[in-house]
Amino acid sequence: MCGIIGCVTKGNCYRYLISSLEKLEYRGYDSAGIAVLSEAGLAIRKKKGGVKNLFGEELSGRAGIGHTRWATHGAPSDANAHPHVCGKFALVHNGIVENYAKLREELSAAGETFLSETDSEVIVKLIARSYTGNFFAAVSSACSRLEGSYAIAVLCEDFPEEIVCAKYKSPLIAGASSSALFVCSDVPALSGEAEYIAAAEDGEFIHIRGGEIDFCDGAGRRIGKKFSKVTETSLGGRRRCATYMEEEIFEIPRALEDTLAWLNAADFAPCARAMRQAKKVFAVACGTAYHAALLFKDIVEKEVRIPVLCHTSSEFRYRDPLVEEGDLVVAVSQSGETADTLEAARLARERGGFVLAVTNVSCSSLSSLADFTVVMRAGPEIAVAATKSYNCQLLCLYYIAAQLCFYKKTQMPAYMPELASLPEAARASFKTFPAMDMLAEKLRGAQSMYFLGRDRDVRTAAEGALKVKEIAYVFAEGYAAGELKHGTLALVERGFPVIAVSTRADLAKKTENALEEVKSRGAYTVLLSQYGFMEESCADFKCKLPSVSEPLMPVISVIPLQYFACRMCLLRGYDPDKPRNLAKSVTVE
Ligand code: M6R
Repeated sequence: MCGIIGCVTKGNCYRYLISSLEKLEYRGYDSAGIAVLSEAGLAIRKKKGGVKNLFGEELSGRAGIGHTRWATHGAPSDANAHPHVCGKFALVHNGIVENYAKLREELSAAGETFLSETDSEVIVKLIARSYTGNFFAAVSSACSRLEGSYAIAVLCEDFPEEIVCAKYKSPLIAGASSSALFVCSDVPALSGEAEYIAAAEDGEFIHIRGGEIDFCDGAGRRIGKKFSKVTETSLGGRRRCATYMEEEIFEIPRALEDTLAWLNAADFAPCARAMRQAKKVFAVACGTAYHAALLFKDIVEKEVRIPVLCHTSSEFRYRDPLVEEGDLVVAVSQSGETADTLEAARLARERGGFVLAVTNVSCSSLSSLADFTVVMRAGPEIAVAATKSYNCQLLCLYYIAAQLCFYKKTQMPAYMPELASLPEAARASFKTFPAMDMLAEKLRGAQSMYFLGRDRDVRTAAEGALKVKEIAYVFAEGYAAGELKHGTLALVERGFPVIAVSTRADLAKKTENALEEVKSRGAYTVLLSQYGFMEESCADFKCKLPSVSEPLMPVISVIPLQYFACRMCLLRGYDPDKPRNLAKSVTVE
């Protein structure tokens, strides 16, 4: 959940460290720090709070490491910020050392004193104690003692232009340009800097030395690695909105276009056998991606008529899931680094499932462990709240459902030719934003709210509620409209906001009935639909959605809700890009 960066540059490394850390801040923003190595030794600057707290006089040196933290062990503080130092070594770490308590006890008994409450500090102590002049061997030996997950980058004063890094279950990318060599947690941190990148696998080390960057095994033997050219759009300089979240909402049409282009050019032949054979399908994901997975279940069960078992990844492995040889397992993750989803995918593979990943990051850990990857081309998503990646996940999942139909020789879904109209419909959905501005203004003081829907609109309701909770800090729940009477109606009182999404014509009346029920208990009712509203509609506030083929409406109807949540957040004085307690990639269980 933290972000790490390391670089050895031809000039001073300070600028690279700061600019990469700013791009990595979405991974955590409790505290930040850098270590710069020069002939004079290590210079450390670390502070509680965001990367901007590191601004100041340049630290000078050609090799450096940096960190932006999402606290797991120890509160956000200057002392708990990385890098951690022991003797000649400085270290940054992303992950969790699960056996840190035992190691700390052992190191304390051996006379070490700890300056922080973090699990990470044990690693640098282990390295310093293993060191007998061979930097790489000391890092490798320390790693052999660790349980849990780690991506680390280490500096040693005896080797002024070297960095040794290791990876296990936390992401680590190597990057290269003519002026610098890098390691970092994520590709976007290197946008505009690295020209070539390669991802490390679990158990691999990266060694920057002598102007070269090598992948090695634990014994220091080189591993051949193919670097690929960076294609992700640069993150800098494109901002037309005050926040990434707003910008990313406005990018939805373009993201859908690019994703559609990728899908239309993709060759699904490697999935043919798995798709033909699959008698049942699994879908695993977390958070927003889980809502996309639920919609996938709806689509596949309707169009392909085979069962889809949808699990939150965090529960999957503890349930002895029914995955068998030949099952198709679709793992959905924007980042491709969510630890729970990775574990779910690993387990599914162990049991003989064919893992099809849907991710936004082509060189992610999920992609490297999957049998086949569908890459959404949403472009880097920086705001912690997922927006454009959700719309693109849905598009990919509609497409995958159609591939299943194709390989199973069932009738192709009627929505297929309509997929091309989604980018335009997304653009048209922006016309709802003035109405959403008004609604956010009206509801800015709300303490809680319900989102309702039926059938596929339940997924949209759940996603709308998640967005409002996550960034506006308003308690919200998304329900099936028919469930109201079974308990939740009890909470409705005067002024309680209830927002209904109604995109299925044949169910519109039923959804309106639910609104009637809450309105008669004093609720403030809101209705979003692509259809004209009935004269007698009970909604206090109506918003007309643009129209696409009915089954595809979830890709579009969620957009006003994403925007509404963002406006609520801003009106309430919060930062939508960095909601409290959260990080973009949840790389720990
Ligand atoms: O990178 P992933 O798609 O695997 O992330 C999964 C969730 O952590 C993520 O969707 C989260 O729920 C979002 N912040 C919600 O906006």
